[in-house]
Order: sequence, then C-alpha cells, then structure tokens
Amino acid sequence: MEKLNAIITGVGGFVPEYVLNNEELSRMVDTNDEWIMSRVGIKERRILNEEGLGTSYMARKAVKQLLAKTDTDPLSVEAVIVATTTPDYHFPSTSSILIGKLGMTNAFAFDLQAACSGFMFAMDQAASMIQSGRYKKIVVCGAEKMSSMVDYTDRSTCPLFGDGAAAVLVEPTTDDLGWKDSILRTDGKGLPFLCMKAGGSAFPPSYYTVDHRMHYVHQEGRTVFKYAVTNMSELSATIAERNGLTKDNLAYVLPHQANIRIIEAVANRLELPMEKVLVNIQRYGNTSGASIPLALWDFERQLKKGDNLILTAFGAGFTYGAAYLKWAYDAK
Ligand code: ACO
Repeated sequence: MEKLNAIITGVGGFVPEYVLNNEELSRMVDTNDEWIMSRVGIKERRILNEEGLGTSYMARKAVKQLLAKTDTDPLSVEAVIVATTTPDYHFPSTSSILIGKLGMTNAFAFDLQAACSGFMFAMDQAASMIQSGRYKKIVVCGAEKMSSMVDYTDRSTCPLFGDGAAAVLVEPTTDDLGWKDSILRTDGKGLPFLCMKAGGSAFPPSYYTVDHRMHYVHQEGRTVFKYAVTNMSELSATIAERNGLTKDNLAYVLPHQANIRIIEAVANRLELPMEKVLVNIQRYGNTSGASIPLALWDFERQLKKGDNLILTAFGAGFTYGAAYLKWAYDAK
C-alpha cells in the first residue's frame, strides 16, 4: 500500500465582533498602548461578551464555515478533536456539543487539553489517524474563550488574551504533502508559573476560592517567557535542520501568538526575516489553542501548494512543539 500523508484541505475561522483595544483597557487598569505594543505587540483583541455563549459557539461558527468552504457533508466526518482550555463545561466535552449542533453524528469526538500547544498536539493525533488508513475525514478545531478566565483587574495578564476559534479539515493523500514531521514535548515544570489555581478537582470552587480570586489565569510572565523562547526556538531549529529547511526553502514560520518578542526570537534563531513569519497577534492577542489555526485562516490566501511551513507552540504544562507542514492547496 502506498504511504498515506495527512493534508489540511481547508480552514474555517471565527472571531467575535467585540473589539477590546488598548485604549479601552487603559481605562480599566493602569496600562497604556505604548507598554503593551512594545512589550507584547498586541493592539486589540476580540471578546465574546454575549451572556450564555461559550467556546462551543465560536467552534461551531468556525467549523460551519469549514464544512461549507470544503463542501463537506457533516455526516462524512469521522472524528472531531477540539483543542481547548476553556471548555463550555467540565463535562460533557465541547466537541460533543459541536457534534450535536452541526449534525456530525457519524463521528466520535473528544477535547484535547494542552493549553496553547493544543492545536499542534491535536493535529499530530489527527495526522497519525489519517496515516494509519483507518480515517479519511477529521475536523481539528482550536477554540478558546480566554476572556472567561482573565482577571480584568490584573494588568499583568488582562492585556494578553483574546477569544476566537478556527478549524481545519484533515484528509489523506499519497502526494508528498502534509504533516511531515513533528517534535512534541510536555515537561511538567509549568504548574507554579502558569495555571488557574482553583475550579478543578484539587481545589473545587468554594466561597474561599472565589473570594481569593483563584479562578483566573495566574502567570509568572518572565519565567514563562524564558521557557517559551528557549523551547520554541530549539525545537523549530531541530525540525528545520533534520528536514533540510533553510531560509531559502522555508516559506513561512507560524508561531503561537503569545508575544511579538518571543516570535522575533524564534525568527532570529532560524535566521529568517520577519516577512517569513506569519503574525496576527496585534489583532487578536493570545487566543491559546486557537492561535495557530486562526493564523492559518487569516493567511490562507497567501499560502501556496508545496509551501514549506514550520509551526511552533508553547503553553501551560509546559507543553511545546514544532512541526513541519507542507501546505497542500492554493486557496480559491
Ligand atoms: N502595563 C504597564 N506596566 C506593566 C503591565 C501593563 N499591562 N504589566 C506589567 N507591567 C509592569 C510590571 O509591573 C513591571 O513593573 P516593575 O518593573 O516596576 O515591577 C514591569 O512592567 C515589567 O514586568 P514583567 O512582568 O517583567 O514584564 P515582561 O517584559 O516580562 O512582560 C509578559 C510580561 C508580556 C507577560 C511576558 O513576560 C510574556 O510574554 N510572557 C510569556 C507569555 C506566554 O508565552 N505565555 C504562554 C502561553 S499562555 C497559555 O498557555 C495560557
């Protein structure tokens, strides 16, 4: 049997209408546009502020667009993976809600929790499933309502995050395209530096946890920054070296969008000019598991069949990784 490769055959995306810009943020906490732009590179972020709507709402919009764009019958989808750290509920899974809303009832579905690396981990799973020959159509979605766990009185975290969702369709081909290589890691060092302190089984919600503001993103930014730069840069360089990718044959690097300075450090390590780095952090902020597919959605028209891409991510856990993806189509 010929070797099967896993290709992305379409991208759908959704961001909420409401734009929270730096001016508005600087009326909420002691910050300013100059600090946020120079230290992080974010101008504005989208916020899902309609009451009662969660991550699955945005995932549904993104996947609906994906199915329409790729002319895919919902009943032909065999598996759905949603990478999210902000599920609608502890249970059932956000992916099960998505399946029900969009009628993808011949599929099985599960959520994958790997924070900002979630989409990359989910893509790797989907690629293995396609390469095994057992599955032909898998939807991989990254979706986050980060605003649901951001403390808008904490200036060290509230400028960073935004909401959004994007999804890709993964299918087989025998052409030399698709998800070609990856290195994924989880080191277990991250808990003290990046977590939500309560709300899970270790510290279930209580008056105490609410009074002590333990249901928000807690981050020691400087430490996380150092780990992110080192690990994203090293793994991207290793993926590049072992696949013979250089600044001449690499079309783009697509890094997780957490901080423009982290992104620039990765580009430096790969000796790439910033024109070869896909960046949309200024418009959406850090959308965690949604950031890489949202950038694919934003830049889809710029990508050409055969383009060599490196994807790289870093998130809570710590989780991190880099992958080599050979893009499979020219957008219509
Ligand atoms: N406006 C103005 N000043 C601020 C703000 C703000 N919004 N936030 C912090 N400051 C101040 C601090 O109080 C501090 O002042 P001091 O020196 O008087 O104490 C100063 O700015 C520097 O603070 P640092 O925290 O050292 O700022 P740093 O340059 O490290 O930037 C940031 C902070 C943006 C969080 C950065 O550390 C970072 O990007 N970290 C990594 C984030 C990341 O990659 N996360 C992983 C993925 S997220 C996930 O998995 C959910």
